[in-house]
Amino acid sequence: MPATIVVGAQWGDEGKGKVVDWAAERADLVARYGGGDNAGHTVTVGGERFALHLIPSGILYPGKLCLMGSGMVVNPTRLVAELDGLAAREVDVSPDRLKLSTGAHLILPYHIALDGAQEAGRGKQAIGTTKRGIGPAYTDKSARVGLRAGSMYDPENFSEKVYQAVTGKNTLLTRVYEQPALDAKAIAVEFHDYARRLAPYLADVSLIANQALEADQHLLCEGAQGTLLDLNHGTYPFVTSSSPTSGGALTGLGFGPRHVTQVIGVAKAYTTRVGAGPFVTELLDETGDRLRGTGAHPWDEFGTTTGRPRRCGWLDAVILRYAARVNGLTHLALTKLDILSGFETLKIAVAYDHEGQRLTHLPLDAAVLAACQPIYEELPGWSEDIRDARSLDDLPAAAQHYVARIEELVGVPVTLVSVGPGREQTIVC
Ligand code: GDP
Ligand code: IMO
Ligand code: MG
Repeated sequence: MPATIVVGAQWGDEGKGKVVDWAAERADLVARYGGGDNAGHTVTVGGERFALHLIPSGILYPGKLCLMGSGMVVNPTRLVAELDGLAAREVDVSPDRLKLSTGAHLILPYHIALDGAQEAGRGKQAIGTTKRGIGPAYTDKSARVGLRAGSMYDPENFSEKVYQAVTGKNTLLTRVYEQPALDAKAIAVEFHDYARRLAPYLADVSLIANQALEADQHLLCEGAQGTLLDLNHGTYPFVTSSSPTSGGALTGLGFGPRHVTQVIGVAKAYTTRVGAGPFVTELLDETGDRLRGTGAHPWDEFGTTTGRPRRCGWLDAVILRYAARVNGLTHLALTKLDILSGFETLKIAVAYDHEGQRLTHLPLDAAVLAACQPIYEELPGWSEDIRDARSLDDLPAAAQHYVARIEELVGVPVTLVSVGPGREQTIVC
């Protein structure tokens, strides 16, 4: 019966992989509902680090059924590589454990070429996409010309469709974007092999999810990206092309809202963003550098998918209140609190100043947001290393106060605090 949705409450990379891994213990099924391999979800189990891009993080728990919903865009090359990478590390990725929706759309090489060419054409207005072909694949989906995963049931026919599609897009690539043509024949042969390999994973994911819910099983929905990257509710146009917010779980998997009992928003104890777009609490100074780290630790703020340095800044309660509203958050999971150890004072943006006006709600216009200045509240920091804390009482008083203040400012209970990447470095409140 119950479904839990885990969503990113900021601009992605909040630690959703870690939180989903924690929640997966009590789930029967774990499902990705949107996005593609623009996502990079890190799970650290027993000191071993896994970076998942397409396959749900629940795959690391033996016995959990993992679903990839119709809301996703899937690059077969990357999915096959991810399956092989996990299998090489002795993770069971057999078709018994993983189901790919026939309705998911496929990313083809021309989507990636177009993503690169369109970004180059935007010049200073570039979005800073992951260049994984996400936008062009969702564009084709909306234009009703995309190729869906279900077409891989028939590899011969699929291969022919791929050939035709590549040939068609070559006109666009060469004539409009002045890019080299892609080798349609070679791609058709390659994708024939993917179809044979992936066909056993194809399934009616909505049917599986609903049958499980009716049988009182627990469905855990793993959001990708974050609230402010949502196509409808994010900082448009600096967003992705899918619906990372909680509503996207329903449309992306095909089940109804009556099943949802929990919506967990994952928020970092500070804020990061990769790519372009407004970021009110961004710190372009040594404090920002300190939050980012040097790259020496796996958790330092460099993208899991692209390796790009993430922009860093103080926590923004305006954003978290917005995330609580548009997702209907019932819980907050606060991650990376350990990174704040050693700061004398911490700041939280409680409102914005826009041309002398105090704003307490997130403005929807990117240009207005870009012109906002943060209004900060200062809180005392703590010096202790908190990575071994396993209960709220183990935390220094200032850290407890920081968590309590976030709860107050956002109006949503913090029910999980993460103090390190490991599965065990988790405080359940
Ligand atoms: P996701 O995309 O939301 O799943 O997040 P990413 O995996 O892209 O980025 C989060 C990074 O922070 C990963 O390297 C995680 O292993 C790491 N991480 C998650 N929670 C914590 C935490 O509480 N403390 C520290 N130090 N690292 C964490
Ligand atoms: P996870 O699931 C952080 C960002 C890109 C860019 C914008 C559009 O790991 O949190 P796209 O390639 O989707 O067209 O890029 O969205 N972006 C992410 N940023 N985490 C992600 O995923 C992201 N997925 C996309 O950096 O700004
Ligand atoms: Mg990530």
